[in-house]
Order: sequence, then C-alpha cells, then structure tokens
Amino acid sequence: MNKDKLSSRDVFSSKFGVIAAAAGSAVGLGNIWKFPYITGVYGGAAFLFVYLGFIALIGLPVMLSELSIGRKSRRNVFGAFKYLAPNSPWKLVGMLGVAAAVMILAFYGVVAGWSIDYIVKAATGSFAAKSPNEMESMFVNFIEGPVSPILYQLLFMVMTMAIVIIGVKDGIEKYAKFLMPLLVVIIIVLCIRSVTLDGASEGLRFLFNPDFSKLTGDGILSALGHAFFSLSLGMGTLVTYGSYIDDKNNIAVTALQVTIADTVIAILAGIAIFPAVFAFGIEPSSGPGLVFMTLPNVFQQMPGGFFFAILFFLLLTVAALTSSISILEVVVAYFREELNLKRNFSTILATVMISFIGVFCSLSMGILKEYTMFGLNFFDLLDWISANILLPLGGLFISLFVGWYLGRKKIEEEFVKGARIVNWLVMVFIFLVKFIAPGAIAIVFLHGLGLFNFG
Ligand code: TRP
Repeated sequence: MNKDKLSSRDVFSSKFGVIAAAAGSAVGLGNIWKFPYITGVYGGAAFLFVYLGFIALIGLPVMLSELSIGRKSRRNVFGAFKYLAPNSPWKLVGMLGVAAAVMILAFYGVVAGWSIDYIVKAATGSFAAKSPNEMESMFVNFIEGPVSPILYQLLFMVMTMAIVIIGVKDGIEKYAKFLMPLLVVIIIVLCIRSVTLDGASEGLRFLFNPDFSKLTGDGILSALGHAFFSLSLGMGTLVTYGSYIDDKNNIAVTALQVTIADTVIAILAGIAIFPAVFAFGIEPSSGPGLVFMTLPNVFQQMPGGFFFAILFFLLLTVAALTSSISILEVVVAYFREELNLKRNFSTILATVMISFIGVFCSLSMGILKEYTMFGLNFFDLLDWISANILLPLGGLFISLFVGWYLGRKKIEEEFVKGARIVNWLVMVFIFLVKFIAPGAIAIVFLHGLGLFNFG
C-alpha cells in the first residue's frame, strides 16, 4: 500500500505516551460514576466478581485484539476492517461502533456536565451543613433542570470539540499525565476517610462479600457491558489508538497495564463510596445519582474537605474529557474518511448531532421522565443499549475476526514485532479469542435478554 501515507501517520512518541492515551480513554466516568452505581443496583460483591471475571477472560483479549487490528492496518476502525478484509461485510462492525459512540457520548456529556456543576457547587460552599437527605434533594432538583444541566452539558461538549479541533491532544495528554495520578491520590484519601466512618464495614461487606443468589441475567449482562464500557472496548477506540503505536511496543504488556490501572481505579472508587453509602444511610441502588449524593457528605466530614471537593470534581471532569475525546474521534474519523468531510466540519457536525441527542437525555431526568421504553427513560435507554448490546456485539465480532478471520499466523506476526512472546501465551490468547470470548458473550447475551435460559 501507499507507503508515504503510512509512514506519515502519527506515532506515539513514547511507551508512556501510549499507556497514558489508552488509560486516559479507559479511565473516566465509567470507573468513578458508573461502576459504583451499577454495582449498587445489581447488589454488590457478586456483580463485582463477575465483572472482574469478564475483564480477565474477555476484556483483556478483546483489548489486545483491537490494538493488534489497529497496529496491523494503521487505519481508523472502518479503514482497518476494509483493509484487512477487503470486499467483505466486516466493515459493518465499524458502523456499529459509530452508532455506539454517538449514543455513549450523548449521555456521557450529560453526566460530565453534572460534574462541572459540582465543581461550582463545591467552590460556592453548597455542601456545607447539609444532611444526607438535603444532599440528595439538591442533586435531584439540579438534574431535573431543565436549563442548567443542559448548559453544563453543552459546555462540556464544546470543550471536547475544542480539544479535538485544536488538536491540543498533546497538551491534554501532557496535563493528564500528572492530573490522573493526582485523581488517584484524592480517591485514596477519600477511601481512608470513608472506611473510617461509623458503620463503614457494612459497605465493605456489600462490596466484597458476594451473595451469588442475587445475580440476575440482566445483572450478568450489565457486568459484561460494563467491562467493555470501562475498558473503552467494542467500538474501535483502541483500534484507532493501536494504529498510532509503533512496532517496537509490546502491545500485550500495554493491554495488561491499561486493564490493571482501569480496574484498580474502579475498585478504589467502590471503596471510597460504599462505606459512605451505608454510613450515611443512602440507598445503594439509588442509580445514576449515587456518587453525587454520597461523596459530598464525605467531603463535609474531612479536614480540608472544601478543597478536596473542588479538586475532585475538577479532576473527574478532566478524566471525563480524556475519555470523551476518544469517543468523539470515532465519529469524526468516520465522517472524515468515509463521507470525505473536512476535519473541522466533521468535528462540529458530530458535536452538534450528539449534543442534540444529549439534550433529550438531560430532559429525560426531569420533564421527559414519563416517556419510557422497556421501563427505561431515554438516558437509561441509550446507556443500556450502547453498553449492553452494541459494545458486546462489537467485541464479539472483533474477537471472531481476530480468532477466525486473521488467524494464528497473522496475529503471531503482529505480536512478535515488539516482543518475544512465549509460544504458550499466544496459544492461550488465540484460544480465548477463538472460543471463550465469543462463546461467553453469546451465552451472556441470550441469557441476559431472556432469549434463552441457561438455568
Ligand atoms: N471507558 C471510558 C470510561 O470509563 C468511556 C469510554 C471512552 C468508552 N471510550 C470508549 C466506552 C469507547 C466505550 C467505548 O469512562
């Protein structure tokens, strides 16, 4: 193929850059907002353990598959499938990815907007002297809006758009390199305060002491969906990032590091939140508001809490930004390379489209609350369909593609570029992507959707 075109592509400058970008995409609202809230909804520890199993058996191999597809093809997600599997329907997997990206960013922007509002609330002392009940009604009143949550959502979308357009991605990555570790430090401080609250142990038991009888098919499907969501898998984000990784990088190690970092941060967020949930008498299954209703109580009861609160929501917003740009990129790359639109125009078009849908997500928390489908409001519906259907479906096809279409020889070639990988590890990987990942996804799917009962 056109060699100039390939060699002129960007390549991440360092090993650390690769990890920072991929981890920046993975670590976001998924870890700190969504993980605790769905763990609460689906009953705690049992959900956590199933989630961890999916991360190891499905998430990790699919991540390695995405990175391999990207680096092998050096193209965006559609281009990658078109190049590796010419004249075949495989590129439809890319379409699926775009649909998922649009849906995810629509509600993601709403939650990121809440986080911006909470920076303001923290800085203006709105948490002072409020009881847990008052914290809860403050949150509910805010998200019902209708106007201010939409304004914050739009502000966040404009920030995402600006970063993608101006290409200060280098800039944001440079900042993310020390801001993200700082976020981890704050979460650890929160963990310490949270586990030393009166009544904290019940929260730890909820999070770590499993009662598998509580698991439902829907819960298992949600654990799978969240494994994909949290690791940024199933829609080509990591295919795109993989296409920027140079041949010397050991992508197996990169995938392992990103997976561990993402998982550790989610668990830390759980440790920061659940003890407090129980200590303050908040309902663990409160839903999307859980983190926003719980943490302000913790800040209120710690020395320096005023500043920690501002910093926490600020960093949460930054974490959301390093993820949202990676979601927007998928749509922008599609508009640019498949519809031949200019980069800036593609970015603006995608942002406007997604923000428009997002406005309805925000409204579905308040004035459009009554409009539901399968018992879910519009916000929950987009979240559920994208995470629990589109991403696992994408992951299914990606693992089948690597396991069956590309096959062992081509994948081995890709692996040995940057690493001396022992034979049996390659065998394990092939076995996972060929049989275990697609099989497990199919079973969880059919069972979770109630199409088949596996007992
Ligand atoms: N993983 C991110 C989070 O946890 C969100 C995200 C970024 C994402 N890119 C993605 C989710 C691609 C699914 C697919 O917040």
